[in-house]
Amino acid sequence: RPRPDDLKNPVAKCEFDADRDSFSAGKFPDGFKWSFATAAYQIEGSWNQDGKGKNIWDTFSQTPGNVWQNDNGNDACKSYENMKRDVDNMKELGVKDNRFSLSWARLCPTGKCATTAGQERKGIDHYHTFLDMLNEAGIEPFVTLYHWDLPQALEDEYEGWEGSQIVDDFGDYARLVFTEYGNKVKNWITLNEAEVVCDLGYGIGVFAPGKTGDKSQFACRHHTVLAHVKAYHIYDQEFRAEQKGQIGITMNTDWYEGLDDTKANLDAAQRWMDLQLGFWADPIYLTGDYPESVLKNNDASVLQRFTDEQKQKNLGAADFFGLNHYTTRLVEDGNKNGGGIGVEWTGYTCPQWPQAGSEWLYSVPWGYKKLLAYIHQRYNSKTYPIYVTENGVSSRGNGTDANPELNDQWRIDHYTGYIGQMKRAMEEDGANVEVYTAWSLMDNFEWASGYSERFGMIWVDFTDDNRTTHFKDSARFYSDLIQTNELKC
Ligand code: NOJ
Repeated sequence: RPRPDDLKNPVAKCEFDADRDSFSAGKFPDGFKWSFATAAYQIEGSWNQDGKGKNIWDTFSQTPGNVWQNDNGNDACKSYENMKRDVDNMKELGVKDNRFSLSWARLCPTGKCATTAGQERKGIDHYHTFLDMLNEAGIEPFVTLYHWDLPQALEDEYEGWEGSQIVDDFGDYARLVFTEYGNKVKNWITLNEAEVVCDLGYGIGVFAPGKTGDKSQFACRHHTVLAHVKAYHIYDQEFRAEQKGQIGITMNTDWYEGLDDTKANLDAAQRWMDLQLGFWADPIYLTGDYPESVLKNNDASVLQRFTDEQKQKNLGAADFFGLNHYTTRLVEDGNKNGGGIGVEWTGYTCPQWPQAGSEWLYSVPWGYKKLLAYIHQRYNSKTYPIYVTENGVSSRGNGTDANPELNDQWRIDHYTGYIGQMKRAMEEDGANVEVYTAWSLMDNFEWASGYSERFGMIWVDFTDDNRTTHFKDSARFYSDLIQTNELKC
């Protein structure tokens, strides 16, 4: 496949570097958690069962032309009806921690959770059953409230994340969730990858709800910060004392490395970090406000400013630092406003980097180490431990034959490199990482790429009505890691 972002001229940072590129195997600290992740829309199916309301991904994927080969999540892995299969698979692998998300529109079909009139008991009970099954299997849940499946009614009413009303509606949803499940769940993640939600969904329009424009993109971004902070304080004030859990947000970022170490390119890389990560992380973990470069490059007509009261509420509104990380880019200065998805792309890839089944995903384990060190230093991972809530790699293939997909040594190599570099970041840079989560437990609906990209350690046969599953070699590798807490290579 063509690799459009590959550098045309050789640069030093692409060359093998024995120190930078080596990684460390061995034991992890006692108590380190190895988790698996999934998300409701990507695995559940049963899109209109048990009173579930329509969400923006139902609408988006059911509209021809939006998703690869017009795939949709109507059935996906059929996990809604096959909870036992999923839990049995986890049991067999010895899984002890599992991250999954709740479908807002199952709990509250039109998104309004404030009163029982807006709630759907069948949907609420479904997750009670699932949580009970996990509990019985000795698996600890990490629950994401929002993994991209906004109730369509809220999109229709006030443009979803573009409208300021979303903050209160999200708060009411969070309150319902804490009330219902708070005695079974001790780890809460409010939002998954708000950057992707807003930039792809409301900025360039390749994800649901398919909107475009700087204004909608930044209105969405602003409201995601406020919605997270709202849910945090609801938990903190109304539930924490009794439930004694913790709550944070999951942010996604690539590692942005200067193309070389000239000041101009290092500054440009920093602007990218500010835009993709600092936009959420600075308000919550550092200053209460957006990074300077973000404020400078986006005036108040595009990006609303926080009030002083909001800044105070933002700061410290999390118990941990949730991180999804996949890949790295080399950044060259020379764009208008510091870059951003849909603005101007100046991130390059090295021809030497192995490319995964997803166009944007290149294996660069050393970038992960640098990122963890950066987060530790800038956001203080001793105060806010880093929970890696996703990391993984895809293959491309919608075939019916599981082999050679099941023999995925290349995936094991990817994980070994990333996990080995994480170990170095913990040992050499002092990064306090407490949780690592592999994306994903099983192949699933990869958003606009449909079923053409497989991230799972468990193969799912999408041509089979029963959605038969098979462990890939990587599942055995990861299972060993979970059991022994030791990276072997
Ligand atoms: C991030 C998202 O949270 C998840 O839903 C997606 O499938 C993976 N990355 C892979 O792209």
